[in-house]
Amino acid sequence: MRIGVPSEHGQIERRVALTPDAVARLLPLGVEVLVQAGAGVAAALPDGDYTEAGARIVPDGAALLAEADLVVMVTRPRDEDVTSFRSGTAVVGMLQPLVNRELVDALAAAGVTSFSLDAIPRITRSQSMDALSSQATVSGYKAVLMSAELLPKFFPMLMTAAGTVAPAKVFVLGAGVAGLQALATARRLGAVVSAFDTRPVVREQVESLGASFVELQLDVEEGEDARGYARELSEAQYAQQQELVARTVADSDVVITTALIPGRPAPRLITAASVAAMRPGSVIVDLAAEAGGNCELTVPGEVVVREGVTIVGTLNLPSTMPLHASQMYARNITNLLGLIIADGELTLDFEDEIVADACITHEGRIVSRLLQGAST
Ligand code: NAI
Repeated sequence: MRIGVPSEHGQIERRVALTPDAVARLLPLGVEVLVQAGAGVAAALPDGDYTEAGARIVPDGAALLAEADLVVMVTRPRDEDVTSFRSGTAVVGMLQPLVNRELVDALAAAGVTSFSLDAIPRITRSQSMDALSSQATVSGYKAVLMSAELLPKFFPMLMTAAGTVAPAKVFVLGAGVAGLQALATARRLGAVVSAFDTRPVVREQVESLGASFVELQLDVEEGEDARGYARELSEAQYAQQQELVARTVADSDVVITTALIPGRPAPRLITAASVAAMRPGSVIVDLAAEAGGNCELTVPGEVVVREGVTIVGTLNLPSTMPLHASQMYARNITNLLGLIIADGELTLDFEDEIVADACITHEGRIVSRLLQGAST
């Protein structure tokens, strides 16, 4: 089996799906690894490192896709890539099947067997393959560094001959993987940190990081669904949350928002009026920008100043730390490949819930459980 690593496309994608150390880990599975020339350069990984690890460099992207039996990607194939695949080729990436339905249809029609890392179940056994988590870790960390850079204040308390500096107050809205990493990072920098999440189980995790859990008397009975994800609230509940959150937001120097509901637009939690009530110079980093944003004034892809508050809507933060983001992603991929490759062949056990959930298309059909009920 030949595993192909193409260059990622898109201006803001600097990650690569396999790092040289991951190539070395894959070879014992009885595979050959082909890497498109320059695929790792934006992640500070020159071609020579891949060759040394045992990969073969292929100069041209289309040739690589045509030669590979299994293609690994950080993102997903473009329309023209799908036409380069032979029937029976396998693809592993972050396909986001719920929002990229046309791509899923095209992959099924082309006879491509596809796997999406974002469809892997969030169970203990799959943690090492969980790219949503590994990349959210990078986002949470980077969000704090960006806010610290933009804030016209120190994060830590300082007692100096030039006077005492009060610590910055950082509020994290949504304490999933990214939010918890943001809390830990902000705390390490010396800020006073607090958080809120609609899933009550999160409280203990927040407190174990030395942060306080903000008490909002929100009328939510069931904070999470059977898969552990947050439930979508009603319009009235969101309105109530906007009101309750406003006071904490106004009292914060930095607000980092990460609230997401899978497959839905991001909930609007911070209104324009809440932004106007913040002190000038404050910073909001909206990690939900990709899904429309948690703040009403976020402009996805841009950093804007509104009412004297800097609002960061930068997309794809993992790509801004491409070396470690790629290394973690590559580890997720190799762990999944370990489950689906045996003796150099694609070997799928659909009784395994990780394989069953991650597989999106197979043998000309859409087999995704996420898209159940859908037809080609
Ligand atoms: P996510 O990216 O889907 O959402 C981020 C956070 O926003 C979540 O904590 C969610 O509860 C919160 N949120 C949604 N609506 C909100 C609102 N209106 N106000 C405040 N917060 C709101 O979440 P993520 O980080 O992907 O984690 C999802 C679940 O998966 C969690 O239960 C997490 O513990 C679990 N998980 C399990 C893993 C495993 O066992 N393999 C690995 C990683 C996560």
